[in-house]
Amino acid sequence: MNQTATPNSYSYHRPVMVDEVLSLFRGTTGLLVDATYGGGGHTAALLQSNPELRVLGIDRDLDAITRVPVGLDDPALHLVAANFGDLEKILAHEVPSGDLAGALFDLGVSSHQLDTAVRGFSYHSSGPLDMRMGPDATHSAADIVNHWSADEIARVLRDYGEERFAWRIANAVVKARPHADTAELGRVVADAVPAAARRRKHPARRTFQALRIAVNGELAALRSGLDAAIDAIRPGGRIVVISYHSLEDRIVKRRFAEGTVGCTCPPDLPVCACGTVAELRRLTRKAMRPTPQEIENNPRARSAILRAVEKVAS
Ligand SMILES: C[S@@+](CC[C@H](N)C(=O)[O-])C[C@H]1O[C@@H](n2cnc3c(N)ncnc32)[C@H](O)[C@@H]1O
Repeated sequence: MNQTATPNSYSYHRPVMVDEVLSLFRGTTGLLVDATYGGGGHTAALLQSNPELRVLGIDRDLDAITRVPVGLDDPALHLVAANFGDLEKILAHEVPSGDLAGALFDLGVSSHQLDTAVRGFSYHSSGPLDMRMGPDATHSAADIVNHWSADEIARVLRDYGEERFAWRIANAVVKARPHADTAELGRVVADAVPAAARRRKHPARRTFQALRIAVNGELAALRSGLDAAIDAIRPGGRIVVISYHSLEDRIVKRRFAEGTVGCTCPPDLPVCACGTVAELRRLTRKAMRPTPQEIENNPRARSAILRAVEKVAS
């Protein structure tokens, strides 16, 4: 890997649980998909740790793919601007040999996206209500808060934010239209929730998470991305997923659990009659979490939940 392939700082995004990711892919040779390339921190660490690896880096954010000069001239790295929800198509096009050694998904948004006010992800600063991770998203957060009905907004807040006060917030949002600014929306949400609920975390946290998930179709992309990765990797190949909230983690946990189900015949049957073969083996019996030291150094790591599996049969 050449010099340009190493980010000289983590100013774009500080990667989370790097040691754990490196250890899970130790000994892997061939092509890995980094489905959430971001600032390239995981990719750079992986390529540096193992000269036998090549990486196909995917991100739906053109800024991530074009801004970081990481490896544009590095034969071990190939970058593609795409949504990992289309992973099956991406692999058919980019990996005609079909030989894939593993996949990494580090979900959610990068620090760069969060900290760039004009992207509209944060209620801490003023910015347009955008929240699109990439140009493939068909509508922005402004479209939702200004044009969807209170019913539809409440459903988004409930389903994608697990927001207890979904109704109150949705009604307040509709009443205070039009909205153009992230900080203003944050204030409307904060004013809509009971005072007692304002004390711990920021009262707009769940609303912003929910809007972001709806704008980017994040959960559907995760489901189809995981299915495609599981189908595509070779036996012995590994999939590592880092999620940041329970909705993502639930999807990962369930899909991995489904894949580990083997023969369901009664134990006294001498030969398997059901034909069910486990396709996956869990590498993390319980989800892994960042160490207290990592959380101290990088507070944004605190909600990370890592799960990993190995493919056992095709
Ligand atoms: C937490 S960051 C990844 C950081 C990266 N691991 C690093 O070390 O810098 C998540 C990245 O995934 C991208 N992303 C999220 N969902 C995506 C999707 N469905 N398809 C492609 N990229 C996605 C975001 O644009 C963001 O850049």
